[in-house]
Amino acid sequence: MSPAPACRIAGVGANVPQRILTNFDLEKMVDTSDDWIVSRTGIRERRIAEEGTTAYEQGIPAARQALEAAGVKPNELDLIVCATATQDRYFPSTACMIQYGLGAGECPAFDISAACSGFIYGATVINQFFKAGGVNNALLVASEIYSRIVNWKDRSTCVLFGDASAAVVFTRSSDGSGLISTKIRSNGEYGGFLTGGALQRSAHPLTGGRPAASDGYFIEMKGNQTFKIAVNSMCAVATQILEENGLTVKDVDLVIPHQANIRIISAVGKSLGLPEEKVYSNIHKYGNTSAASIPLAMYEANQEGRLKKGDLALMVAFGGGLTWGASLLRW
Ligand code: ACO
Repeated sequence: MSPAPACRIAGVGANVPQRILTNFDLEKMVDTSDDWIVSRTGIRERRIAEEGTTAYEQGIPAARQALEAAGVKPNELDLIVCATATQDRYFPSTACMIQYGLGAGECPAFDISAACSGFIYGATVINQFFKAGGVNNALLVASEIYSRIVNWKDRSTCVLFGDASAAVVFTRSSDGSGLISTKIRSNGEYGGFLTGGALQRSAHPLTGGRPAASDGYFIEMKGNQTFKIAVNSMCAVATQILEENGLTVKDVDLVIPHQANIRIISAVGKSLGLPEEKVYSNIHKYGNTSAASIPLAMYEANQEGRLKKGDLALMVAFGGGLTWGASLLRW
């Protein structure tokens, strides 16, 4: 038996850009087709942020919505964590800018970098704060603007990603609902399979050497190798977390997986022995929104009535790093 959850989800919010980029739009930009994209990925369209919008600006409405749903005021927050791989700057952190934008008090605020596993990493860190004590309300914002680091001339990656933000407010749990368990893993050995977002550096003080401005800036991915590791890692961590908590897939009401590729999602569901209706997907509308994908899916699943009080949700993610992880949540 696992101990009673220390924190529960009190509110969820989401904010996606208005602008839609369809597969048919992409057909005009690179040598691709709607048919190829849908059959290989399940994606039909994705959202694209307006020029100049930053991850923190996009995250603030999602955070406000989550706070309102939770009935928590910004100045009642004890902790703000932002999961992002597309922050505007090294510093100030996206979390600090969100804190300022919300008018929250001087609570700690920091970013987490774990690419598409960012939400599970963030939830894990927040869970530890609740277990340690001293935190009653925490905000986790996952905010991504991947359209900035996608090479729009590379058909093998540009069809995959989209922009979105989603947020969750955690409060102390007293009724058995909330985060039952959470587990994170990483393996830098395969970090080169999935890279992106290198910022421009200044010249070396002694040699004057510097990387080309775009060196490593755009997303690069060894799609095939990543695919196999993603399926294996997600299945392994999902199985482990269930076993460690004395649960089986039969106890799970809904799996909310990271939305990278419908074939990965289906393969994970099949390998775990889950019927299709128990595996949530909204990838057709948004593509891969990295850290934002799980809370955005959670937000929509909740809106659609797919999450009922007492349901057991299994969230499982995989991303650059390589990083992966899973969380068990009693809704
Ligand atoms: N349109 C048309 N053809 C294309 C496109 C495209 N958009 N992209 C690639 N192709 C071509 C390739 O050039 C290749 O052609 P060739 O056989 O003549 O060489 C062919 O299609 C097959 O390419 P593959 O890469 O083998 O296609 P695959 O079936 O593996 O699908 C994909 C590629 C969708 C990227 C898949 O491998 C995948 O989803 N990988 C995992 C992604 C993932 O999980 N990432 C982790 C999270 S992301 C993060 O953390 C930031």
